[in-house]
Amino acid sequence: MLIGIPRESKVGETLVAATGKTVGQLQSLGYDVIVEAGAGERAEQPDAAFTDAGTRIGSSEQVWGADVVVKVNAPSDEEIARLRRGAVLISMMAPGRNPELLEKLQNAGVTALAMDAVPRISRAQSMDVLSSMANVAGYRAVVEAAHEFGRMFTGQVTAAGKIPPARVFVVGAGVAGLAAIGAASAMGAVVRAFDVRPEVAEQVQSMGAEFVQVDFEAEKSEDGYAKEMTAEQEAATASMYDEEARGADIVITTAQIPGRPAPRLLTAETVAAMKHGSVIVDMAASSGGNAAGAVADEKVVTDNGVTILGYTDLAGRLAAQTSQLYGTNIVNLVKLLTPEKNGELTLDMDDIVQRGITVTRDGEGMWPPPPVQVSAAPKAAAAEPAPVAEPKVAMSAAKKVAFALAGIIIFGVVVAFAPPPLPQHFMVLMLAIVIGYYVIGNVAHALHTPLMSVTNAISGVVIVGALLQLATDNVTIQVLATLAILVASINVFGGFAVTRRMLAMFSKGA
Ligand code: NAI
Repeated sequence: MLIGIPRESKVGETLVAATGKTVGQLQSLGYDVIVEAGAGERAEQPDAAFTDAGTRIGSSEQVWGADVVVKVNAPSDEEIARLRRGAVLISMMAPGRNPELLEKLQNAGVTALAMDAVPRISRAQSMDVLSSMANVAGYRAVVEAAHEFGRMFTGQVTAAGKIPPARVFVVGAGVAGLAAIGAASAMGAVVRAFDVRPEVAEQVQSMGAEFVQVDFEAEKSEDGYAKEMTAEQEAATASMYDEEARGADIVITTAQIPGRPAPRLLTAETVAAMKHGSVIVDMAASSGGNAAGAVADEKVVTDNGVTILGYTDLAGRLAAQTSQLYGTNIVNLVKLLTPEKNGELTLDMDDIVQRGITVTRDGEGMWPPPPVQVSAAPKAAAAEPAPVAEPKVAMSAAKKVAFALAGIIIFGVVVAFAPPPLPQHFMVLMLAIVIGYYVIGNVAHALHTPLMSVTNAISGVVIVGALLQLATDNVTIQVLATLAILVASINVFGGFAVTRRMLAMFSKGA
């Protein structure tokens, strides 16, 4: 099949859907690729970058006549008219907000796959273009803010005096927010952040910011995105936004609920009370803005000297890297759609990722897809909440009584017949079993790695003890000691093997 990469027609667009590297990857999946002349010019991808990878450069007609057309933005009416019937179009298309576009794609008899509809599940992360873009955009938001701020982010104590660090407040700790937190912390600012989903507090802290706590009952998200706030929640957060914004030098807002206008979080009064010279970057400006006074694609300076940036092309301002990430997301999707690596695109409607992005199929309307329960979302609460204090390995009361009785009887027999010091050792063993059972049974999954280190240490003690016992002439003791060394060694070396596998997961590879 032939894949065509057109030049983006949207005014001011800098991005391209493929780079020299990604066309090579598409070709290795068995596809022929043709790139429109000049398509990558603004993303530092001259035609030579594509021809060096063995890809043809062609005319607009050739590219739009391909079996599969891959682009960044939704196609214009003229572009839809140029698609062949039966062709596959892959691009972002905001299907939830564009019913007319879907109708046109249906009428054109094409299969349309929306890159911005990839479900937020772990398996689909490598194709999630919204995350790729938001990640770059969050970083760029900080760079834009720093440029407008015109002062250092990092605090310094110099012979000539003290410079306080910039105070940055980030609203919304999704992909863009976390990237902004990371960039601002790395530049030395003091960063505070808030999100309506309290479950992200840990991520906020791990990126170097303080999570601002507000006392309200948050509704759990089923799809990894926030729900609209209730009036009560809004009242609880309003004064916090006001207070945080007044104290901040930079405010970066990323709060968004998919398919809704952006929630208004910074009121005109709050903006009017902010410090002269402070900067707001409103990343949600394209959908109405989180801050009063934000205008999409514009820089506004208020009467009190607050600069509000409503740029909607933040990812495009780092065009080469964003195009590379977008192109890699495309390669990962094409890999999924080409299981045989034979250059033939196939769609499996039983696969939730493929179903999720299929907007039209050979002219048949497929939107919306069935809802997907995402792995990022907290699990729905069980009807009967599990007793918290009980260990996971809890057993029935009858079993517990039976075990206790058996233990007492065995203990009685040992005390009555065994020579000292065996009863004392036996007592220690019994206590160790009981304590170990309750302690280990209550360790959270997240702490299993440190637990493994502890059990390794215990195994080390067992090995040393058993080695000392080996010096005896008693064959039974020798056999038992050897067995103990064997079993404890399995634990020690197994622990190393598991740790090695875990570390390999973080290795960047060759
Ligand atoms: P996301 O869905 O991952 O994150 C949004 C976060 O906002 C979520 O964590 C959500 O819980 C939070 N949120 C929602 N309502 C809130 C409220 N009332 N108060 C506090 N937090 C709230 O979205 P992502 O990918 O991080 O994108 C964020 C925004 O940035 C979106 O509006 C997106 O369109 C925009 N964006 C802008 C770009 C630009 O160039 N300006 C480029 C890329 C994304």
